[in-house]
Amino acid sequence: TSCNVAVVGATGAVGETMLKVLAERKFPIGKLHVLASERSAGEKIEFEGQTLVVEDLAAFDPKGVDIALFSAGGSVSKEYAPKFAAAGAVVIDNSSAFRYQDDVPLVVSEVNPEALKNRPLGIVANPNCSTMQLMVALAPIHRQAKLERINIATYQSVSGTGKRAMEELGRQTAALLSFQEAQPEIYPVQIAFNVIPHGGDFTDNGYTTEEMKLVWETRKILGDDSIGVNATVVRVPVFYGHSEAVHIETRDKLSAADARALLEKAPGLVVVDEAKGGGYPTPVTHASGEDPVFVGRVRDDISHPRGLSLWVVADNIRKGAATNAVQLAELVWAER
Ligand code: A2P
Repeated sequence: TSCNVAVVGATGAVGETMLKVLAERKFPIGKLHVLASERSAGEKIEFEGQTLVVEDLAAFDPKGVDIALFSAGGSVSKEYAPKFAAAGAVVIDNSSAFRYQDDVPLVVSEVNPEALKNRPLGIVANPNCSTMQLMVALAPIHRQAKLERINIATYQSVSGTGKRAMEELGRQTAALLSFQEAQPEIYPVQIAFNVIPHGGDFTDNGYTTEEMKLVWETRKILGDDSIGVNATVVRVPVFYGHSEAVHIETRDKLSAADARALLEKAPGLVVVDEAKGGGYPTPVTHASGEDPVFVGRVRDDISHPRGLSLWVVADNIRKGAATNAVQLAELVWAER
C-alpha cells in the first residue's frame, strides 16, 4: 500500500529538498500534498513528472494524510501539527516547537530509532541540523567510551536560516564585488566575507538558542543528562553544509586510531582523514548535496589524556533536515 504524504513548507529550502529526497528514495507515496502559506498557494511544483499545485495550509483538510513532514517554522508547527495528528497523521516536525517535550521523541535515524515508537501525540521531532550531524558522528564513540564533555564550535551555512538568507549572501557578495555597500536584512551584520558568532536568540546565560539546542538535544538523543556540552555557533558565508570543530573528553580512554576505526564502521558516516591537503571533508568538496555525515581530522588531544578532536561536516538541508525526516517517515511507514 502507499502512503498519503503532506509536505508543509514545500516551497522553502528544506521543503523542496524533502520532495527531492522522497523521490530519490522512492518513498511509496499515494497522494502527495504540497502546502505552504497563502502567499504561494497556486504555485506549481514538479514532482516525478507530475505537476503539483501548492495548497494553502490554513484552508487544508488533513483528513486522509498518513504522514506529514513539517518545515514551515515553529509557530506553524505549534498551530497545525496537533491538527494533523488529530486527523490521524503522524507528524514529523523539523521545527523546534516540540523537541523538548517529554512526550515527543527526538530522533536521528541511525542513532535512536527505537525512540520513535513512543509518540503519544502522534508527533515526532527532527533534531536541529547541527545536533543531527554531531550525533551521527559521536553516538558510536559514546557507546564505546562514554562522552563526558563536548566542546564544539560550528561553522554554519546560511541555508540553515532559509531561502531569504541565501539570497542575502548572494546579494551582499555581488554588491561588495561591484564596490557597493552590503545591506544586512536577515542577519544583524554583513554575512558576505564575514563570520558571525550568533545563531538564534540570546538567552539569559549568554549562550544563544542555537547553542543551547546542542546541549539539550544531545542529552535527549543520547539519553544521558550528564554529558557536558559547551557550544559556540558561528554563521559563515557558505551556502550549503555545516562544519563543526569538535573537542570531546570521554570517560574511558579511546585513541584516535580506535575512534577512526569505529567511525569507519558506523552507519551514515564517511571518514575522510588523510594528513594532506584536501584529505579532509569540506562543505564544497564533500558534503553539499550529499546525505552522509563526513568526519576527518581525527586526533588525540595533546592537551588531555582522554581527549579527542575531530571535524564533522554534513549538508544541513539534507541529513541535517530533509533526509533524516524522510528516513523517519520510512521507519514509521515500515511499522505497518
Ligand atoms: P511560503 O513560500 O508560502 O512563504 P524557508 O525556511 O526557506 O524560508 O521556508 C519556509 C517555508 O514555510 C515556506 O515553504 C513558506 O511558505 C512556509 N511558511 C511560512 N509561513 C507559513 C504559514 N504561515 N503557513 C504555511 N506555510 C508557511
